[in-house]
Amino acid sequence: MHTEINEILGTEYPIIQGGMAWVAEYHLAAAVSEAGGFGLIGAANAPADWVREQIRKTKELTDRPFGVNVMLMSPYADEVSRVIAEEGVKAVTTGAGNPEKYMELWKARNIKVIPVVASVALAKRMQRCGADAVVAEGCESGGHIGESTTMTLVPQVVDAVDIPVIAAGGIGDGRGIASALMLGAKGVQMGTRFVVTKECQVHPAYKERIIRAKDIDTKVTGRSTGHPIRALRNDMTKVYLQKEQEGASVEELELLASGALRRAVQEGDIHNGSLMSGQIAGLIKEEVSCKQLIDMLIRQTKEALNRSRMYE
Ligand SMILES: Cc1cc2nc3c(=O)[nH]c(=O)nc-3n(C[C@H](O)[C@H](O)[C@H](O)COP(=O)(O)O)c2cc1C
Repeated sequence: MHTEINEILGTEYPIIQGGMAWVAEYHLAAAVSEAGGFGLIGAANAPADWVREQIRKTKELTDRPFGVNVMLMSPYADEVSRVIAEEGVKAVTTGAGNPEKYMELWKARNIKVIPVVASVALAKRMQRCGADAVVAEGCESGGHIGESTTMTLVPQVVDAVDIPVIAAGGIGDGRGIASALMLGAKGVQMGTRFVVTKECQVHPAYKERIIRAKDIDTKVTGRSTGHPIRALRNDMTKVYLQKEQEGASVEELELLASGALRRAVQEGDIHNGSLMSGQIAGLIKEEVSCKQLIDMLIRQTKEALNRSRMYE
């Protein structure tokens, strides 16, 4: 499994672990990179010092390349971007905005820039401003989502840009990876599947909810605010959706969601916390190590690609 993405990221496999807020810290990122994938630290809204410490701790655990996901709406985005340039990582993925103003800073340090996009228009804009690749993320994903599905978005982005495209959203095993490659993607990014790994530090109750989830167990909250989020259904999503239906103000809804992901990840509050998760949760049946997972993904992908030869 060798594509341009292996070249860009310096990895054995074109498999990226999504930079997940509160979830993707150094233990997970290092384990994924050690296993031949590309681990990401999720900087989310964290201060720059936290990001610096996470980068240093990851480097203590692995000599292999890894990166940071920068949330461009974070109040610390400027400082975090500088810290990343100072500390040096292989690549940055960006969400929630346009990374153009940091491009020069990162490129000068030979850091690859890979924005996450949910539309063809944004993918083209990212290519114009110098992105090395894009992650095309469909709305099956956990966390913040766009409108299009992975199946429809990926081939349209592939046709629209010349840089390599990484597919994300709804990929949980080798069949998903093989399908993404068939759609023209050169790699995949997976989030939900990596939450249920031994090295992922989220509360066991969160992992257990993903393992027990069925295909229809996620809900999308926040459509009324323009910031939709996919998570497993629980009391939190029920109250939120009810309030949205009643026409609650953005402030009231924000208050309800404030700190909810942290409560789920750190305290294991599976009732009132936000259990961000993609629709692929229903496919995840057990917790495995990152090495076991990546080995399994590669084997399954090869099997799926071999099976596709039946139609020749
Ligand atoms: C708990 C959780 C938190 C996430 N946080 C972020 C984030 O901070 N920044 C980001 O770009 N993507 C975030 N994502 C999206 C993932 O990086 C990844 O693109 C997505 O999970 C892929 O879809 P999948 O969950 O179907 O594999 C998050 C996803 C989950 C499940």
